[in-house]
Amino acid sequence: MIREITAQELNAQHFIDEQVKEISDAVGDGTAINALSGGVDSSTVTMLGHRALGKRLRTVFIENGLMREGESKQVTDLFQKLGVTVEVVDAHEEFFSALKGITDPEEKREAITQTFYRDVFGHLVKESGAKHLLQGTILTDVDETVAGIKRQHNVFEQLGIDPENAFGYRIIEPLIQLRKDGVRKVGQALGLPPEVFERIPFPGPALSARVIGEVTPERIDTVRRATLIVERLLKDTGAFQYMAILHQDRVTGMREGERDYGQQIEVRCWDSVDARTATPTRLPFEILEQVAREIILEMPGIVSVTYNVTPKPPSTLEVV
Ligand code: XMP
Repeated sequence: MIREITAQELNAQHFIDEQVKEISDAVGDGTAINALSGGVDSSTVTMLGHRALGKRLRTVFIENGLMREGESKQVTDLFQKLGVTVEVVDAHEEFFSALKGITDPEEKREAITQTFYRDVFGHLVKESGAKHLLQGTILTDVDETVAGIKRQHNVFEQLGIDPENAFGYRIIEPLIQLRKDGVRKVGQALGLPPEVFERIPFPGPALSARVIGEVTPERIDTVRRATLIVERLLKDTGAFQYMAILHQDRVTGMREGERDYGQQIEVRCWDSVDARTATPTRLPFEILEQVAREIILEMPGIVSVTYNVTPKPPSTLEVV
């Protein structure tokens, strides 16, 4: 049983001191590696790890081919300014080949997990001699996995999986007692800029969590383009998280007087504190119309744009 530290009771400075010490003690005079995606959780872990280990922490950004437009450059540039060098590791072929032909959501999540931890990190850890992987698992990830709702890509121990046996390295999870609001407080106290600690959550399986049906480079490209529009138009709403989803079913539409049996994009925008429950944001209809207008204008082949109005539960935030 993990003891939760709520955002209210959290003393960020005290928490940082404690975690820095724990990381130092665990790694000793060895080296560690961590994956940075640029989200709040992995950015916070990166800063904690660098405080504890300095140059003995190797930070990598895995280019899995499933990230948002321009993401690797944004993240590496930003961390360079914070004094952290981030290495970009290109693994997009491994991920797309592991996802090929898979449509079941849990099989997709499993393919991501195995590619990430066994193949890509297994290789990196072996090559670097590091014995530890630092990662930003938070309590909500564990809850949903243990409850069998969805397998979060980064949960092992609570499922009875020993990463050392399975992949050959230990996993250190400094944020495991926190939820998103607590992580934001710690990230801020570590000197991350607001554009990082206030950033909307983005899942480990990245855009593949937003493609219903098979994940292919083309379908990821479609959802990536829609994401760019949705994030640009909803960024000032103050919502917890917003996203575009690509559906599998096609529907009959029309374009320039011709039948167009096209694709559907679903837009979701959530009000939430910690992602455990959420309600759809009551967006002004004008904003929704603008989102639809820009998507159909910029993306030929999309003939339907819908907005989800179902709360979590029974919905979940992501679609896969
Ligand atoms: P759901 O879809 O379960 O999402 O309601 C709750 C929150 O968790 C994020 N999410 C993930 N984060 N690995 C992660 O690190 C995952 O596999 C994963 N799946 C969902 C999601 O974006 C939301 O903020």
